Amino acid sequence: MNAPAWRVRPGGSLAGKIRIPGDKSISHRVMLLGAIGTSPLEAHGFLHSEDCLATRRAVEALGARVEDLPAGGVRVLPPERLTAPRGPLDFGNSGTGIRLMTGLLAGREIDAVLTGDASLQRRPMERVAAPLRRMGARLETSNGCPPIRIAAAGPLQPLDYAMPVASAQVKSALLLAGLSARGRTVIRQPALSRDHTERMLAALGCSVEAGDWGAAVVGPTRPRGGKIIVPGDFSSAAFFIVGGLLAGGDVPIELTGVGLNPTRTGLLEILGMMGGRIEIARLREECGEPVADLLVWRSELKGIDVPPELVPLAIDEFPALFVAAALASGTTRVRGAEELRVKESDRIAVMARGLEAVGTRVVEQPDGLLIEGGRMTGGTVDSGGDHRVAMSFAVAAARATAPLEILDVANVATSFPGFEQAAAALGLGIETLTPGAAA
Ligand code: S3P
Repeated sequence: MNAPAWRVRPGGSLAGKIRIPGDKSISHRVMLLGAIGTSPLEAHGFLHSEDCLATRRAVEALGARVEDLPAGGVRVLPPERLTAPRGPLDFGNSGTGIRLMTGLLAGREIDAVLTGDASLQRRPMERVAAPLRRMGARLETSNGCPPIRIAAAGPLQPLDYAMPVASAQVKSALLLAGLSARGRTVIRQPALSRDHTERMLAALGCSVEAGDWGAAVVGPTRPRGGKIIVPGDFSSAAFFIVGGLLAGGDVPIELTGVGLNPTRTGLLEILGMMGGRIEIARLREECGEPVADLLVWRSELKGIDVPPELVPLAIDEFPALFVAAALASGTTRVRGAEELRVKESDRIAVMARGLEAVGTRVVEQPDGLLIEGGRMTGGTVDSGGDHRVAMSFAVAAARATAPLEILDVANVATSFPGFEQAAAALGLGIETLTPGAAA
């Protein structure tokens, strides 16, 4: 073993209450919008995960200053204008960081090279580069992937663009480019995708239109600073939602401060259709984003055909959903989810191999999986270095028939530092095996 792994004991039940750490998507946007603002932007509940810290280092390399505030808050102090970085900007594992930054820098008369780790260097970047070129940006990808080389270009032209995939990263990158273009940039989406950029731009005083059709901004414009409260990340809550449904006790587990932006919560609908009981309590709004506490009851789940229109609204939650399906009765079918193949790993293939390794029958399809639910044995699962795959199998292990070993879990720190402690606090028998130790 040359990377950290987990061993998780089966049995027992999950109980208790935890606070879900800050939203990763929103935390990236705090750094990016903070760095181009007209005054400082303060964020409480910022997620100090490796992905968001990579974006923080990138904005610092471009001339912004970031101060740490008590209780994990941050204050971003924007420079008068961004300046060229001295070396390549390294986004680690983060597709959101690199794609949004490409859009942000495209029209800012700056030369920059944007890169990342081995996984990020395999991910498609032309989906942002091609429409940005149509706006007048000068940039090159490396066979469609990072490194991305941006050359200084003058003011961009606005664009009216219909995205071929419902991608919030593409939409956001183009909106960020649109902030420095002269005129109205319109991005149309084939289905709903998360709208945090639009909400934050509006909260920071930019003129933005948004709807199910997509979004538009009128440039040139700069967001103002102010104060943002970052809600808990629904995608991090997802592991404990599934864990609570599968392995909760007599009382519900409680997850507090969870962001419930309707473009993110497709999993709640899907799990509801499968028979999951999840209650929403103390629903409130913070800085334009809905937030609530969730009560999750142990439930008998049954397999379903997942409606394809819910796929973009649950795009990061499929690893968690797949393990729920493996422990449900009956068959679950997911179609229309080919985007899962270009995430931090090929999540269709990696989840199929992982589920097979714990005795679940799956049929892999180009755009999804067919999962025969019922039981999960113990065994060894390779997460493929994918944080969400690792956390999904960890919570499912509570219902396996023997211990589960999950390999290559270091990247959990990209989105959920402290996951092991949170899981253990709820009663999961999780233990970290460090490199060099006997597996
Ligand atoms: C994100 C958008 C989604 C999601 C990713 C975060 C964002 O990616 O999978 O984890 O913050 O905009 P796509 O836009 O590629 O679907």
